Amino acid sequence: KHGVPDQQQDEGESLTSTLPRREGWWKPFFLFEGCWLTPEALKSVTVVQAEFRPRADDVILATYPKCGTTWLKALAFTVANRSRHAVVTGNGGGGGHHPVLARHPQDLVPFLELPYRQLHPVAELEALPSPRLLCTHLPLGSLPPGAAALGCRVVYLCRDPKDVLVSTWHFMNKVRAGFHIDLDTAFEFFCEGVSLYGPFWDHCRGYWNKSLEQPGRVLFLKYDEMMAEPAEHVRMLAEFLGVPFTEEEESGGVAEAVVRLCSFDSLRNLPVNATGVSDRIGGLPMNNSSYFRSGKVGDWRNYLTEEMAAKLDSIVEENLRGSGLSF
Ligand code: A3P
Repeated sequence: KHGVPDQQQDEGESLTSTLPRREGWWKPFFLFEGCWLTPEALKSVTVVQAEFRPRADDVILATYPKCGTTWLKALAFTVANRSRHAVVTGNGGGGGHHPVLARHPQDLVPFLELPYRQLHPVAELEALPSPRLLCTHLPLGSLPPGAAALGCRVVYLCRDPKDVLVSTWHFMNKVRAGFHIDLDTAFEFFCEGVSLYGPFWDHCRGYWNKSLEQPGRVLFLKYDEMMAEPAEHVRMLAEFLGVPFTEEEESGGVAEAVVRLCSFDSLRNLPVNATGVSDRIGGLPMNNSSYFRSGKVGDWRNYLTEEMAAKLDSIVEENLRGSGLSF
């Protein structure tokens, strides 16, 4: 059991005993506050909810898994820290000594609820200087209490659910040794809402509604739109984070340089991202390259039939009806 201490295992089991349960992924999933979690994730979430102390100036990057978290971490870190870490502009700039060149984007912005096991980072999060840039896969309703009252800002990123499903299916089969799920089964689970942190549509809808109520608190982004107009989105991000680009930066092409530095090809080819193994989840060492697969919009066409696509689209549409959100 990946060396999970007995006490933690027992606590996990007592938490799950009363919750709805589904088998079929690599572990049983449990429905907690309307969200499907593994026992380890569930335990971690309850610790974060109990112990994490939000600060008014926290910025939380929130995503459903496989919606482009890695990209958003790189972009937001680069934009937020550009007074300390200048982004090299101009042709062939390459970025000099920028942290994005030396560290995996996943390690530039810590997760609230990861790693799931022994090394829980609440104390580490507490030790970070303000303003903190943090990340989570939690749905809005499960964020630590106080985050909303304090007015923490959230950048939410979602993506065409068909691409999310295909990306998830590849990722889970790649990183979990001994686990294999066929695409039809993964598809059926996803359509039922049974996927890690799912249902997908509830996750998006929660943040979407909040972004309508309080646009200054939640910036709602879509991977697909960000891919189409990355520099515009980098400007939106800078504005939202309270560090808009100056005229000088604009004329120097800084937004475009951020886009280049954090592009899929640039990140994927960096030695720190292309090689090596890290254990970020706790008990699950993964290749650093696992977070970079194809980086395309519409790759689902290579995997899903038109019938599957239509079915998933109609389920998502049905569940988002009346919200104004669509994919
Ligand atoms: P694909 O599997 O479709 O290629 P997450 O970071 O939330 O785990 O999401 C991973 C998805 O984002 C993968 O999608 C991955 O290839 C893609 N991705 C990673 N870095 C990216 C970048 N810099 N630009 C665009 N997409 C990126």
